[in-house]
Amino acid sequence: MTLIELKESLHNCQRCKLAKLGRTQVVFGVGNPHASIMFVGEGPGFYEDKQGEPFVGAAGKLLNDLLQSIGLSRPDIYIANVVKCRPPNNRDPEPDEVETCKPFLLQQIELIQPKLVCTLGKWAAQTLLNRPVSIMKMRGQAVRLERFTLFPLLHPAAALHQGNLRGSLEEDFHKLKAYLDRLDAQAAQAAPAVSSPPAAPTQMNLF
Ligand code: URA
Repeated sequence: MTLIELKESLHNCQRCKLAKLGRTQVVFGVGNPHASIMFVGEGPGFYEDKQGEPFVGAAGKLLNDLLQSIGLSRPDIYIANVVKCRPPNNRDPEPDEVETCKPFLLQQIELIQPKLVCTLGKWAAQTLLNRPVSIMKMRGQAVRLERFTLFPLLHPAAALHQGNLRGSLEEDFHKLKAYLDRLDAQAAQAAPAVSSPPAAPTQMNLF
């Protein structure tokens, strides 16, 4: 199955109650299908539901600014949500909704094969870790999983609602940048040195 086929298979999805709770459309995900970095949010909000794209509202604008601050932009990454339909009044997704939609997030990850999955907020982190988490304790630290490394970040919407979290979110992105720089440095070290012609044998002046 390709990413496009997976998207088509979810068109007008009726698998959970969010389909009947006022969603306009399924918000599948957007971005570079070969991205090595994927971002995962919680679920579409008002504008995402209307436009069919994740992170296009105020939280998305802040996310774009933070990406830019570490030298990334939307075309470099892929971005999706745990649940693909808007929960009414932006409430948290309920456990049955997460369980129903989670296999599709896992399939997206399987098809894109990112090296790093950056989760935005508690819901995305705990969905991919399969356990409750304290996002304040684990934010900004890479967790190696079987198929990818998870990098938990605060959710941009949390920083919009609680101004005191803005600095923490910026700190998370600085840590992400430092982590990416370390990966680049390791990759450069591991790469075979550019081959230079063999040195001419030294002339030994025996006489
Ligand atoms: N918040 C999310 O978690 N996802 C979006 O797509 C938008 C806001």
